[in-house]
Amino acid sequence: MPAFQLPSALVKLAERVGVPAFFVLGNHDHYGGSIAKTEAAVDQVCERYQALTWLDRQAEPIRLDERTTLVGTGGWGDFSVLDDGYAELNDELEIKELFRLRGPALAQYHQRLAHESAEIFRPKLEVALGTSDQVLIGTHVPPFRGATWHEGHISEPAFLARFCNATLGRVIEECSEKFPDTKMLVVCGHTHSGGYYKHNDSIEVFTGAAEYGSLRVNGLIERLENGTWEVKTEGRIK
Ligand SMILES: [Fe+2]
Repeated sequence: MPAFQLPSALVKLAERVGVPAFFVLGNHDHYGGSIAKTEAAVDQVCERYQALTWLDRQAEPIRLDERTTLVGTGGWGDFSVLDDGYAELNDELEIKELFRLRGPALAQYHQRLAHESAEIFRPKLEVALGTSDQVLIGTHVPPFRGATWHEGHISEPAFLARFCNATLGRVIEECSEKFPDTKMLVVCGHTHSGGYYKHNDSIEVFTGAAEYGSLRVNGLIERLENGTWEVKTEGRIK
């Protein structure tokens, strides 16, 4: 969503939907503006509406029930998967901080953004893993190559620099090693196509699809009687 529409969209969400909303930002939310101004505007809206929770700003995990916590961070494609260079995106035309950055300068900027957000996220994830049986993680960019779905396949090599946040993936893996019995479900988007990826016995990833200009429900996470969850998506159950 363009930056100038984001605050009013969040207000509508808070006033009309009537249930708590937990969210992260994606790259498109900064289009036509700057990262700094967009984040300041979102902070202001969240101060006014208790129903809105920007996960990046939460100091502690959010407890959803006695077994489950929620944490999240938006994140960025971190340019660490450079199998075949990188594809240019409109980000470099639409986001002030990235405007006309190219090559190493663009890569370094994204690596810094990804690193900063992942390291702020790390202690929250550790607390979540240590205090619950299962952790729901909300993020924008898929943290593993296998979750970069695009039209039924893993994204083309040239897009992986932009479509994978391996920095966050490493943090998730490192935290998981400390708490191997805690399950994680990562919900993300960014690639505009949906898919499911099982990273290992502890970590699953659901990538939600997107269409420009339309809202959609990508899936429902239902709590089962035994306290575990089930993700229902497009009629299929994962
Ligand atoms: Fe995106």
